Amino acid sequence: MAPLRLLLPALTLGSAVLAQNHQFRARCESFADEVDLPQVKVNFVNYVLGGTNLSLADNDPSCGASYQAVSSDTCRISMAVTTSNDSEITLEAWFPRDYTGRFLSTGNGGLSGCIQYYDLAYTAGLGFATVGANNGHNGTSGLPFYKHPAVLEDFASRSVHTGVVLGKQLTKLFYKEGFKKSYYLGCSTGGRQGFKLVQQFSNELDGIVAGAPAMNFVGLLSWSAHFYPITGPPGSVTYLSPDEWSVAHEEILRQCDALDGAEDGIIEDPDLCHPDVSTILCGSEASADSCLSAAQVDTVHQVLSPLLSTNGTLIYPRMQPGSEEYAAPIMYNGAPFAYSQDWWRYVVYNDPTWNATRWTVKDAEAALKQNPYDIQTWDADLTPFRRAGGKVLTYHGLQDQLISSENSKLYYHRVQKAMGLEPSELDEFYRFFQISGMAHCAGGDGANGIGNQAESESGTDPEDNVLMAMVRWVEEGIPPETVRGAKFSDGVGSPVEYYRKHCRYPRRNVYKGPGNYTDENAWECV
Ligand SMILES: *[C@@H]1O[C@H](CO)[C@@H](O)[C@H](O)[C@H]1NC(C)=O
Ligand SMILES: *[C@@H]1O[C@H](CO)[C@@H](O)[C@H](O)[C@H]1NC(C)=O
Ligand SMILES: *[C@@H]1O[C@H](CO)[C@@H](O)[C@H](O)[C@H]1NC(C)=O
Ligand SMILES: *[C@@H]1O[C@H](CO)[C@@H](O)[C@H](O)[C@H]1NC(C)=O
Ligand SMILES: *[C@@H]1O[C@H](CO)[C@@H](O)[C@H](O)[C@H]1NC(C)=O
Ligand SMILES: *[C@@H]1O[C@H](CO)[C@@H](O)[C@H](O)[C@H]1NC(C)=O
Repeated sequence: MAPLRLLLPALTLGSAVLAQNHQFRARCESFADEVDLPQVKVNFVNYVLGGTNLSLADNDPSCGASYQAVSSDTCRISMAVTTSNDSEITLEAWFPRDYTGRFLSTGNGGLSGCIQYYDLAYTAGLGFATVGANNGHNGTSGLPFYKHPAVLEDFASRSVHTGVVLGKQLTKLFYKEGFKKSYYLGCSTGGRQGFKLVQQFSNELDGIVAGAPAMNFVGLLSWSAHFYPITGPPGSVTYLSPDEWSVAHEEILRQCDALDGAEDGIIEDPDLCHPDVSTILCGSEASADSCLSAAQVDTVHQVLSPLLSTNGTLIYPRMQPGSEEYAAPIMYNGAPFAYSQDWWRYVVYNDPTWNATRWTVKDAEAALKQNPYDIQTWDADLTPFRRAGGKVLTYHGLQDQLISSENSKLYYHRVQKAMGLEPSELDEFYRFFQISGMAHCAGGDGANGIGNQAESESGTDPEDNVLMAMVRWVEEGIPPETVRGAKFSDGVGSPVEYYRKHCRYPRRNVYKGPGNYTDENAWECV
């Protein structure tokens, strides 16, 4: 047995921690009485012990999340917040016991309607006082927008903005020290919401991480709708099966993979890649199981071309080559894209019987004219955000099958032009990273483990984690030069095969050698 004098401090420390835990729990359980904000009704407050597999029985089934693993002791507060006379949001605050003095808001995805519990758990687990809202409606369908413009306004910007404003108030109420810095983390629609905060609510947050942003939103939904008229339904001469898309993908890699100096199955710079798959037209040299018909070759070329309006202006840039196998089952599957169909049904035409199989570019033009509540999220003058000292880190997967990374490049150039700034000047507040081998927000064939969500985390070091890189940028003034990604052998938690440092736009990654492409130092941003 250890001498008493050694044991005593440990005992004292132990009971201090216990007392602190007890205090935190008591603070949590009595918090509902303290929330006295006019728009807010507390649904419930729960103390959640780290290690709990939390049941989310009330979550809309279409959100596909009935459980959430919670890693650290957390105070969970669920609220109904009135946003207008015809709308409300459900807002949750997750306040961790091991608090780092940082506030953070999460975002949403698609047309939802779903609190992203995995982001709440991830960021509360990293010590952020975190909030997340349901974006004004429950579930993934666009039906709640039908004849409810107030619900659409929540979706466009009011939900995320309300969450940020109230979340900051609640954080100050809950923790006596308040918060030092404020952040945002989101991808897809969450990336669009991040840019909404940059463009329109420029003074609210210190650091915003906005991935694969669904901005140019109506252009995006038009682009998503335009694939069906190109492919036709399965069985059409213009349609390619997933296996045939793999054949096209192999040929595209054959033409483009080595352009970055390494044959690793990963395209580092799609700008250099303009594939011509007529090389595998059946009847030429290609063998029967690795060739495409003339109509299929034309389909491949059309999906890799920009969407133009009838007067020739750009509506949405091309799908980036390299994403064929990820896009095949969802964008090129011979069925209209569900979110697009919902948009024209419930927002553009108010006609629940409207059928996206008859979509044409005229429908895109009608939708672009509307742009309700400026959902486009396409303002390029970021002067107020820059003046306020905000920082935005945006990233986009180069195998993104749902939102083309070309749109993020287009936006970068628009900002450059609108503000008259050089890339080195944009770098002071706006940094964009192209993530090769990353599909939509997660997954993909390459080094996509960048810590933008728990599902793609390889560590919490700022070098390995985009959120912690943003924290370091804001709090220590050290901006990220590159974003380092881990290539997992079989999903997160599995052994890391290699790391790669992804470059800041407009630089591109080039393999210089010597050695192997798996060596991160054999690459250079040029
Ligand atoms: C969304 O679901 C929550 C939880 O079940 C519920 O409290 C809320 O009223 C719902 N909101 C809407 C707009 O239906
Ligand atoms: C949580 O519980 C559900 C239902 O029993 C189960 O499917 C899931 O794997 C559990 N998750 C964890 C992380 O334990
Ligand atoms: C609800 O709010 C809208 C928008 O502010 C307003 O036009 C409308 O008159 C209000 N309706 C009622 C019943 O108060
Ligand atoms: C949409 O139109 C297509 C083609 O005419 C038809 O096969 C399909 O059943 C329609 N879908 C709905 C939901 O009406
Ligand atoms: C071309 O069409 C787009 C989309 O409908 C429209 O926004 C734009 O104003 C048009 N441009 C010209 C020059 O007519
Ligand atoms: C490079 O590494 C990969 C993956 O470990 C391996 O398959 C390949 O043979 C290596 N190439 C060379 C030239 O060492």
